[in-house]
Amino acid sequence: MSLLETKNLGIAFGGLRAVDNFSINIKEGELLGLIGPNGAGKTTIFNMLTGVYLPTEGSIYIDGKKINGKKPFQIVKMGIGRTFQNIRLFANLTVIENVKIAFHKDMTYNTFTGIFRLPKYWKEEDEITTKALELLSLFDMENDAENMAKNLPYGKQRKLEICRALATNPKLLLLDEPAAGMNPQETKELMETIHFIRDKFKVTVLLIEHDMNLVMGICERLVVIDYGMIIAKGTPDEIKSNKKVIEAYLGS
Ligand SMILES: Nc1ncnc2c1ncn2[C@@H]1O[C@H](COP(=O)(O)OP(=O)(O)OP(=O)(O)O)[C@@H](O)[C@H]1O
Ligand SMILES: [Mg+2]
Repeated sequence: MSLLETKNLGIAFGGLRAVDNFSINIKEGELLGLIGPNGAGKTTIFNMLTGVYLPTEGSIYIDGKKINGKKPFQIVKMGIGRTFQNIRLFANLTVIENVKIAFHKDMTYNTFTGIFRLPKYWKEEDEITTKALELLSLFDMENDAENMAKNLPYGKQRKLEICRALATNPKLLLLDEPAAGMNPQETKELMETIHFIRDKFKVTVLLIEHDMNLVMGICERLVVIDYGMIIAKGTPDEIKSNKKVIEAYLGS
């Protein structure tokens, strides 16, 4: 069974059909690239998958369960985590606080225990601090733990967003242009880290990128969209030589 399946998913904004007839299957453990020129509808697809936008047509299934109409927080609980194209961090909190907040859904102590700082509170807090530091260290960011998020260089803010998404313990991780604004060396390292994360956390990854060459190296399979519609699906080699894809990219 697929981890994620969409059937004829679509959405219109007024007269604009931003996504149309979008059907894909993602198997568990897969690293799938979603690519397409600017304005093709990539972020809109993520917004539908995460309950930010309600699709006007079609269905979304995770582990065979339909998720259309569910609220974003319910979808996080069902195992979809994401990052945003425009970084969304708590700028005035520290790096580790940003990660710890994302672990919050796993906390079991109640308000009473929290307010009175009972032993269970400290035990869970310690565990979450340890887990947050472990995650940060995967990105070589453990020494940044006490810095304010807003003072991090751009590349590290992007990595912190990925840490936060991983802290929600997703089965499916959606990354929206995680390398945007990074230099070529940082980008290369990030792509390797994404590959590593997929293997280490056994997480399935759907990665948006508009630079085709960048994802070719790490994704097993790619889906290409243009003007809201799928124009090609296949391996990087198949996509590279696909006429429609070449036209979409040269034309944009
Ligand atoms: N809330 C909205 N209201 C109206 N139009 C929208 C809305 N969200 C997206 N669109 C439109 O839908 C189309 C697809 O936008 P989307 O942001 O999904 O593209 P994208 O593939 O992510 O592009 P980019 O590579 O630039 O990030 C665009 O024409 C955009 O203007
Ligand atoms: Mg986008």
